[in-house]
Amino acid sequence: MFGKKVPNVTFRTRVHDEAIEGPNPFRWEDKTSDDYFKGKRVVLFSLPGAFTPTCSTYQLPDFEKLFADFQAEGIDDIYCISVNDAFVMNAWAKSQGVKNVKVIPDGSGEFTRKMGMLVAKDNLGFGMRSWRYAAVINDGTVEMWFEEDGFSDNCDTDPYGASAPQNVLENLRTPKTAAA
Ligand code: BEZ
Repeated sequence: MFGKKVPNVTFRTRVHDEAIEGPNPFRWEDKTSDDYFKGKRVVLFSLPGAFTPTCSTYQLPDFEKLFADFQAEGIDDIYCISVNDAFVMNAWAKSQGVKNVKVIPDGSGEFTRKMGMLVAKDNLGFGMRSWRYAAVINDGTVEMWFEEDGFSDNCDTDPYGASAPQNVLENLRTPKTAAA
């Protein structure tokens, strides 16, 4: 995965717009892979679903808390992506009170599929979702790769360790191998 260019995808986001009145003052805004990745060094982490326990209890809040530590290692942004639509991702980010981590809705799974990380989670009634991974992406190219073991469809377990923020941070501080 090291050296791979991230796929060029258009994401359908929902953004707050003060000009819109009423109970749902949001509008669609398309964002491309370039908008998120071009000219920046970022951490991207991808997980099986918004609101799921490990993601909500550990992975998202821990990335949020450690943002300053990542910045100190030369990271400009932290992105959380999931095969969920913009409404779900925004609701999850709001419920978690995140200010530092930015969520990316990959509702159709196109980015995840083109990254080679799409797996079936029909055993949980989820359909096609992302295998859990994290990456350091520098100007759109994978610089470091952290993939959970056991990539497979309908996996009985949900391994979590390689893509945890603590592990990514440790590798940024003292790079071991290419981790790819
Ligand atoms: C979790 O994050 O705990 C989780 C993820 C996918 C399915 C079930 C649970």
